[in-house]
Amino acid sequence: MQVHDKVFRPFIDAKTIQARVAELGKQIDKDYEGKRPLFIAILNGSFVFASDLFRHITIDAEISFIKLASYKGTSSTGNVITSIGMEEAVTGRHVVLLEDIIDTGKTLHAFLPEIVHRQPASLKIATFLSKPDALQYEVKADYVGFEVPNKFVLGYGLDYDGLGRNIPELYELAE
Ligand code: IMP
Ligand code: MG
Repeated sequence: MQVHDKVFRPFIDAKTIQARVAELGKQIDKDYEGKRPLFIAILNGSFVFASDLFRHITIDAEISFIKLASYKGTSSTGNVITSIGMEEAVTGRHVVLLEDIIDTGKTLHAFLPEIVHRQPASLKIATFLSKPDALQYEVKADYVGFEVPNKFVLGYGLDYDGLGRNIPELYELAE
């Protein structure tokens, strides 16, 4: 399949993805019994994963969406990441962050302090994908759909330059 200038080939089929996401959802459903968790999905990439996972939650639960924006910090700390749309009260809540993929870990590493600062009762991370070989920052996901090799992937919410998010299965870059 061609997207923009690159060729992608099938990697994980839709049935396998659905089965795994159902498994994760049911696990979280069990782990958070009686805790009324607040899911916070990080846009844009996680919206497909979040939508599928959330429908496997049967306990009382809330979901909210945020967008992360990075800008150059004025000091030597480099890029600063802030969230847009986090009006939901996080203090005292059991928060589960939903991500599409942890690649280098840079995004979450920079953003986590902002959440921690608001003093949730607990904080866990659920990510659809992780690329352990690409990790450069200390970020540990508590729930991982699939560990994938350090290759560019596309589909199920993940894009290549804006395209491909609507593909129900996962593709990888063919080289
Ligand atoms: P980070 O390197 O962990 O900060 O990853 C940041 C973001 O890069 C992810 O949330 C994705 O939106 C994007 N990203 C990383 N790897 C891929 C990939 O293989 N395909 C599509 N997007 C990716
Ligand atoms: Mg993303």
